[in-house]
Amino acid sequence: MLAMDYRGPYRVRAVQKPEPEIEHPDDCIVQVTRSCICGSDLHLYHGFVPDTRVGSTFGHEFIGIVVEVGLNVQKLKVGDHVIVPFNISCGKCAFCKQELYGNCHESNPEATAVGGIFGYSHTAGGFLGGQAEYVRVPYADVGPTVIPPEMDPENAVLLTDVVPTAYQACEMGGIVSRDTVVIFGAGPIGIMAAKCAWLFGAGRVIVIDNVDYRLEFVKNYAPCEAYNFDEMNDVVEFVKKATDWFGADVCIDAVGCEANGDAWQSLTGKILLLQSGSATALHWAINSVKKGGIVSIVGVYGPTGNLVPIGNVVNKGITIRANQASVKRNLPKLIEHVMEGRLNPKEIITHRIPLEHVSDAYRIFSDKLDNCIKTVLIPPSSNY
Ligand SMILES: NC(=O)c1ccc[n+]([C@@H]2O[C@H](COP(=O)([O-])OP(=O)(O)OC[C@H]3O[C@@H](n4cnc5c(N)ncnc54)[C@H](O)[C@@H]3O)[C@@H](O)[C@H]2O)c1
Ligand SMILES: [Zn+2]
Ligand SMILES: [Zn+2]
Repeated sequence: MLAMDYRGPYRVRAVQKPEPEIEHPDDCIVQVTRSCICGSDLHLYHGFVPDTRVGSTFGHEFIGIVVEVGLNVQKLKVGDHVIVPFNISCGKCAFCKQELYGNCHESNPEATAVGGIFGYSHTAGGFLGGQAEYVRVPYADVGPTVIPPEMDPENAVLLTDVVPTAYQACEMGGIVSRDTVVIFGAGPIGIMAAKCAWLFGAGRVIVIDNVDYRLEFVKNYAPCEAYNFDEMNDVVEFVKKATDWFGADVCIDAVGCEANGDAWQSLTGKILLLQSGSATALHWAINSVKKGGIVSIVGVYGPTGNLVPIGNVVNKGITIRANQASVKRNLPKLIEHVMEGRLNPKEIITHRIPLEHVSDAYRIFSDKLDNCIKTVLIPPSSNY
């Protein structure tokens, strides 16, 4: 089968690989019909995630058709079209029982923090991902969810990660009626978080990035206010000034460890690797939120950051909430939002690229060429 193959930082290609097989009676095999490239894949592509092995296949956002089921699988049958959440969860451990599906205790023997994730290095379990024609899906009765027949597949594929993550970012932010919400990052996650913030009753939504075409997009799509941090003397002062010097009620970090905008953070975090990435957006979020406010982090970070203003968290009485999204938990509600037209996620898709051209697809998304926001890959065997 054709699959994406990682050869080292900034080098990916499409190659022939063996088709996956059922390895455990709880597995199923899914023939991928659509997969996406995520901002999280860029951390892998740029060489920021430890133990990303040459020869691995990325891709944690995919939908497809069940083509084979293991002996124990009860809920799925061959021919079902399924949304596959990016988290791999056993459904039975103490954390899955609390619906912390992103923190499953069984699916990732390599770590005690995050559970298994498709195509996300050996630190997330070493599973092969969905930027391929076929994928082995463990715990098939837990994650995969049948796509309602009337749902557009492009909306369905964005329910594997983007929408649940953005929605959970707002949920963790505890947004209540009329809150001012400031979102750092206007990538797919920040854009969708701006959209979801209104569903929670936000009174004002402000997005900050420095890529003009993305700011323009979110201004129309969410719709919301959007500002370029390159045009500000001081980002924190800008937010304070915009909020009567109180600060935002809620700040969302939808940027993560490769943030730009602060030379010292970038030097120590991205060049000298003295901390695991640059904590610029997190720093801005902590300092821009009001006293007693909430900072919600969905941007991905490595384990340690030195330049995080932890004293301000204490002295301002800030609550920090963070996690990988637990996709399965909110999926039924989000399917409803999409089916009833309150969310139309496919509008953020700007590029549809055959899997054969995966190398170009990564370069376009990574370099923000051609006004790229979200890229969908189409495997050669997909017939829609
Ligand atoms: N927690 C989860 O479950 C989860 C799920 C999906 C993605 N993520 C993470 O969310 C983050 C965003 O994902 P994405 O797909 O939108 O990625 P993306 O790379 O497309 O978007 C990131 C955006 O942040 C902007 N940016 C850079 N520095 C900034 C700064 N200092 N302030 C404001 N904006 C800044 C970039 O210009 C870019 O537009 C990534 O870290 C990704 O790994 C987490
Ligand atoms: Zn993703
Ligand atoms: Zn579990």
